[in-house]
Amino acid sequence: MASLKAYQPPKQVIVLPQTQQLKACTTIIRDKNTQRADFIFYSDRIIRILVEEGLNHLPVVEKTVITPTGKEFHGIDFQGRICGVSIMRAGESMEQGLRDVCRSVRIGKILIQRDEETALPKLYYAKFPPDIASRFCLLLDPMLATGGSAIKAIETLIDYGVAEERILFLNLISCPEGIAAVVAKFPAMKIVTAEIDAGLDEKLYINPGLGDFGCRYFGTD
Ligand code: URA
Repeated sequence: MASLKAYQPPKQVIVLPQTQQLKACTTIIRDKNTQRADFIFYSDRIIRILVEEGLNHLPVVEKTVITPTGKEFHGIDFQGRICGVSIMRAGESMEQGLRDVCRSVRIGKILIQRDEETALPKLYYAKFPPDIASRFCLLLDPMLATGGSAIKAIETLIDYGVAEERILFLNLISCPEGIAAVVAKFPAMKIVTAEIDAGLDEKLYINPGLGDFGCRYFGTD
């Protein structure tokens, strides 16, 4: 486990501003005594902030509008089209947060599981918008642990023609091991994360972490 104080994430990693509101939300979802309704509510709040921050890293163009006072306002307009891609199952928890901010956004899905024979992450299912190669992709997975699933998911997106630099990987909790693995393979991709934890334990859970995100969010074992 890396020392948290000494850890400086690589430049590809954007950590959300550590506001009191964010800290209070992450404290609630990390608490083992938090009930499911609160876990969902406060995770959703963090996801919303993550999506808003992610969108800040997409290109814009200048745009001038006329206000009701008849004056010009020199602003900006979004450029390009986006889609979400959730890594099943935990990443599906982030879809609504994306929809809340991006009306009618298209959302693809990827299912990756460990192959029982090889112990390596294996792609079981992928379904994307047909024009995904021309879109910016917000890849959704709440926990970046070893990076194994994320790497497989990103390789799949690249196989479908998405340029690495058009992918933004959004997660709530990450750790140095996962960040290092992903950044080493995809140095042109940005990761937006709410908090970076100390590291992985022997069961490959993030520590201090929050346990199994998917089970806590969806209420399963
Ligand atoms: N996935 C989780 O849900 N939690 C972890 O700590 C690591 C991966």
